[in-house]
Amino acid sequence: MENFDLHDYLKARKAMIDQALEHVLPLPEGPSDKVVEAMRYSLAAGGKRVRPILLMAACEAVGGSTSSVMPAACALECVHTYSLIHDDLPAMDNDDLRRGKPTCHKVFGEAVAILAGDGLLTFAFELLAHPDMKNALDPSTLLDVVYVFADAAGINGMVGGQTADIIFEGKTTDAQTLSFIHSKKTGALIRASVEMGAMLGNGRQEQVKNLKKYGTALGLAFQVVDDILDVVGDEQKIGKPVGSDEKNQKATYPALFGLEQARKKAVQLKDEALAALADFGPEAEPLRAIAAYVVERDR
Ligand code: IPE
Ligand code: IPE
Ligand code: MG
Ligand code: MG
Ligand code: MG
Repeated sequence: MENFDLHDYLKARKAMIDQALEHVLPLPEGPSDKVVEAMRYSLAAGGKRVRPILLMAACEAVGGSTSSVMPAACALECVHTYSLIHDDLPAMDNDDLRRGKPTCHKVFGEAVAILAGDGLLTFAFELLAHPDMKNALDPSTLLDVVYVFADAAGINGMVGGQTADIIFEGKTTDAQTLSFIHSKKTGALIRASVEMGAMLGNGRQEQVKNLKKYGTALGLAFQVVDDILDVVGDEQKIGKPVGSDEKNQKATYPALFGLEQARKKAVQLKDEALAALADFGPEAEPLRAIAAYVVERDR
């Protein structure tokens, strides 16, 4: 892992994931073609593919091979993309730009956008529970992975966090509530990405525990930086509107603590994430580099 180049690594991994997604996604056909078109539109619009990249990197950090985990990596990106489609709806953040393109509901209408989200969520579990997966992976591990994934995506994770995010619009929040919202709406799926990768790579219990710690800190850091970019980011780079949080009076780190404290919080969380990797050697170098990238990113 000497001279590890994160830029090249991320580019190569993103290409692998894009190819795998193209391979697994159904083609639009028949009377319901619009929903598949919309699913493909939002997935293909771009995206950094951070969650599938984390799953692969965690799998490799425990000595696993990524060859059999691609469907799980794709499943993560499907759930994440569904969360973005629904997040942008008029009933939620009401945003018109996503991944540098008009949002799904702007192109396909709200009904199809809602259904495309539903389709992506369901398709993710179809990918994970596909009969082929039982041959490629230990079925008992696979079942544990499905549980971690569902728990992180649902009311204990993303859906719960998104609900609190909406409920606290325009309300005063405190540090504890804010941390709850962000850890759930964004942190949970990022933590699960790392945890699932470690489990699928047959990591030892202690390794999975430490990687889960890494993912928890990284997941919260990711949303703190997302909040910062919503204030100081460049629309061209982030591919979504700047100022969406202010428009919606969201509870965010910059709103509650100011930009400088928010930046400090992100760095502190990055250090926490790195500390959790102390027992790992060079095989966790990509995870270390990704932690730094998450805090320094401008998109
Ligand atoms: C944006 O996620 C929404 C959050 C959960 C913070 P990403 O910043 O990973 O968005 P893409 O996938 O790269 O578009
Ligand atoms: C959304 O947080 C987190 C999700 C679960 C989609 P944001 O509302 O801040 O995400 P962006 O900024 O629109 O990507
Ligand atoms: Mg939102
Ligand atoms: Mg939003
Ligand atoms: Mg945001």
